Amino acid sequence: MNLKLLFCCLFLLVLLIPAESKPKHRKGHERSHEGRHEKHGKHGMHDKKRLRFEDIIEDIFFRDTSDDDDEEDQSNSDWLFELLFPEGKCNPNPCLNNGVCKEKGKSFKCDCPKPFMGRKCEREPKVCRRGTCGRGECVLTSTRPYYECKCKAPFQPPDCRQYSVCKPNPCKNGGQCIKDGNDFDCVCPEGYRGRFCHVGPHDCYVDDGETYRGVVSETDDGYECLQWNSHFILEKGADPFNSFEDSDGLGPHNFCRNPDGEPRPWCFYRSGYRLLWDHCDVRPCPDPTDVVPTDTPDPEPTSSQLPSTSLPPPVTSTSVPQLSTVPPNITTIPQQFLTCGNPQPKKAVTRIYGGLKVAPGAIPWQVSVQEKPKNSPRPYKHVCGGVLIASCWVLTAGHCIEAKKDMQVVMGSLSLDNVEPTAQTVEVEKAIVHENYRSTLSAVYNDIALLRLKGKDGFCANETQFVKTACLPDAQLPDGMECTISGWGATEESDFGSNHLLDANVLLINQEKCSEPMIYGNVLDNTMFCAGHLEGGVDSCQGDSGGPLTCKQNVTHVVYGVVSWGDQCGKKNKPGVYTRVTQFLSWIKSKTQASPQAA
Ligand code: ARG
Repeated sequence: MNLKLLFCCLFLLVLLIPAESKPKHRKGHERSHEGRHEKHGKHGMHDKKRLRFEDIIEDIFFRDTSDDDDEEDQSNSDWLFELLFPEGKCNPNPCLNNGVCKEKGKSFKCDCPKPFMGRKCEREPKVCRRGTCGRGECVLTSTRPYYECKCKAPFQPPDCRQYSVCKPNPCKNGGQCIKDGNDFDCVCPEGYRGRFCHVGPHDCYVDDGETYRGVVSETDDGYECLQWNSHFILEKGADPFNSFEDSDGLGPHNFCRNPDGEPRPWCFYRSGYRLLWDHCDVRPCPDPTDVVPTDTPDPEPTSSQLPSTSLPPPVTSTSVPQLSTVPPNITTIPQQFLTCGNPQPKKAVTRIYGGLKVAPGAIPWQVSVQEKPKNSPRPYKHVCGGVLIASCWVLTAGHCIEAKKDMQVVMGSLSLDNVEPTAQTVEVEKAIVHENYRSTLSAVYNDIALLRLKGKDGFCANETQFVKTACLPDAQLPDGMECTISGWGATEESDFGSNHLLDANVLLINQEKCSEPMIYGNVLDNTMFCAGHLEGGVDSCQGDSGGPLTCKQNVTHVVYGVVSWGDQCGKKNKPGVYTRVTQFLSWIKSKTQASPQAA
């Protein structure tokens, strides 16, 4: 935690270094890919580096580990469980999956129906454990033993531990297998391609590829797609079969599909322990009239083949027309921002890995706070997030404000490097940092600031589908509540931040719990609170500061926290710390109402 400020400063510095001079990937990997980025250029086959034998051997995912981290995760989630179900009480029933609760002295015991187990019957038998499938992917099936191993060639079934090169020939469609040490290459007959020559000449997609039923199973960068019924996808909280309106093309296979209105077919892939997704190397059909993807063995799943799932049904999607920015009409001021906290209806997208790619209009109050040296011709750079709370007011973190800087905010754009037509860019007239803002080596206190935007007659931002205000909270929210964080900050994949706005869900953590010595000890005060997951993983990070933590109060989204600080990111027992907005309601009111620009 002592390094926290240093990290923030380093991050700000890094943002000022021109993008070209940054290494593309922190592990010196050849694949310059940020999993959750929207891709623009299409890569040719020669750009790819396919998974070679040595990569498979070195892949940390295939390292055999014991299952002992289950125990730890258990103890980390217990505090939340105890909060929701007071100790020793069977009412409400703390046992999940129809477990029967029996009071036992001061505690309770759950009798679990088979095959559930665990203190609250929350666990199913884990058929897919690390190492179950050697060097292969474990996919869930509905019949005993409830899993199957999909080996990475040249590893062989049934458990993907032995390997055999070119025997049997893994190349399809008459492809020739050429041995290359422990590895092999398929030389494909004319017109066929793909690692196994499995992609035929007519394999292509039309329009956005919603109807694509071909067999391409590689991403643009050459990553092998995961099976849609992969245990790994479910384990990461995504459930393809229940998340999309149209899961028709999905099944127990790893072919690229487009069930959710992406511009073209895509698939999930894995990098280490991370679940990522990307568009696929599928070719568009030359002419919509001669599309006959004939060579497409596409085993359509029957519902009994699909893994059982528990996510809620998908939300109906709405199409979002491209709007061009309407220039602010200064003479006739329309009635705007009359409501707050109501985003555009969001499409269910479960391509998660810590964070989700945000859909247009889903977090319309998110702004990018950008800076450049005062009066310099240099371009503005993103330094922090911010939250639009009124047409002329943005809430951000105190530590985001630097003296002698020109500032602007960009609203209504999901992408940072490619400002969308829906974006509105407004200069900052004045930054007001909280009078008691104080930063020490171990924490940041009263970390809040307001940006007054340039405009006229209380009219600065223009309300559109993509630009809306968040509401201010009017009450304390309960510990354990699930809230949303968002930003363009550093991700597990890229220290330099994400180009596309990401969001993730975090839980509000009890203040006493977060003040335990092994978490943040006594440095916390009531101007801040913790949110995240004590087991680590999902968190905000450098570059997200100043951005929103919003929670749903009834049907509206209130900005309950502002991203402030944390001891590194995503670390176990080191959740994110957020400015407690409810402590600053009168401060916000006094500043915004004192000004002639008040909205
Ligand atoms: N101070 C950071 C920034 O300026 C935010 C850090 C948040 N850290 C965390 N672990 N949640 O962007």
